[in-house]
Amino acid sequence: MRELIDRLRTARSVTVLTGSGISAESGLPTFRGVGGLWRTHRVEELASPAGFERDPQLVWTWYNERNAAHRRAQPNAGHRALAELETRYLDFTLATQNVDSLHLRAGTRNLLELHGSLRIARCTGCGYERELDASGLPFEQIEHTCGGRMRPDIVWFGEPLPPEAWRRAVAAAERAEVILVVGTSAVVYPAAALATRYARDAFVAEINPEATAISERVACVLRGPASEVLPRIVAELDGFPS
Ligand code: OAD
Repeated sequence: MRELIDRLRTARSVTVLTGSGISAESGLPTFRGVGGLWRTHRVEELASPAGFERDPQLVWTWYNERNAAHRRAQPNAGHRALAELETRYLDFTLATQNVDSLHLRAGTRNLLELHGSLRIARCTGCGYERELDASGLPFEQIEHTCGGRMRPDIVWFGEPLPPEAWRRAVAAAERAEVILVVGTSAVVYPAAALATRYARDAFVAEINPEATAISERVACVLRGPASEVLPRIVAELDGFPS
């Protein structure tokens, strides 16, 4: 912790990569942890163009349930600590793999949603977009008038990341002096490469209660839940060691 705090004190450029673990304490399930299956379905089966082609209603049932859960959930102390951390830096980027909007609701401003968001549905045919409300997308609206289908504005397995968000995330990782990797198993690429391949000279710190695919490759590992470790980092920066 000491070295991380020293690095954060002098850094001008900080980048954060988050995954579903940061929202675990807001009551949202992670992908690969306990309860990582939805009913009997693996994520890869649902979050893919082939899965949507096979059974769009099943895929929308999953996303409609998740959308409702996201809106019931509240940002936790981990999300809030990252929003607070941002206010200390002129150059701060938070790249998230999460689609739950909790960073946005916690007040993070320079946010890159690498896997899209569940706020919007878009047509596979004409690209028409509409905002989703708490009830999600009714089945009768899946078929769009243009002949395409409405799908969540989310990156599925086998699809490229939104090019502009990815370009900005790579640039942020490359110039960062400190990179925090929070609540991700770091097995899904290319997002995980921000903390390894694109990290250049950054001091990389992992915040996660468990070991991950990149634990051996980072400079510092803080084992614990994000909602405890991140507020501790902010408190230490404020000069209140806990
Ligand atoms: P995973 O389920 O793979 O990993 C969640 C990580 O969070 C694990 O390493 C846990 O140890 C950690 N964790 C659990 N509770 C935590 C807590 N309280 N504080 C901090 N960490 C905690 O989820 P992701 O890495 O987000 O992609 O998965 C990456 C992508 O795979 C997702 O964005 C999704 C999925 O397929 C798409 O849907 C495109």
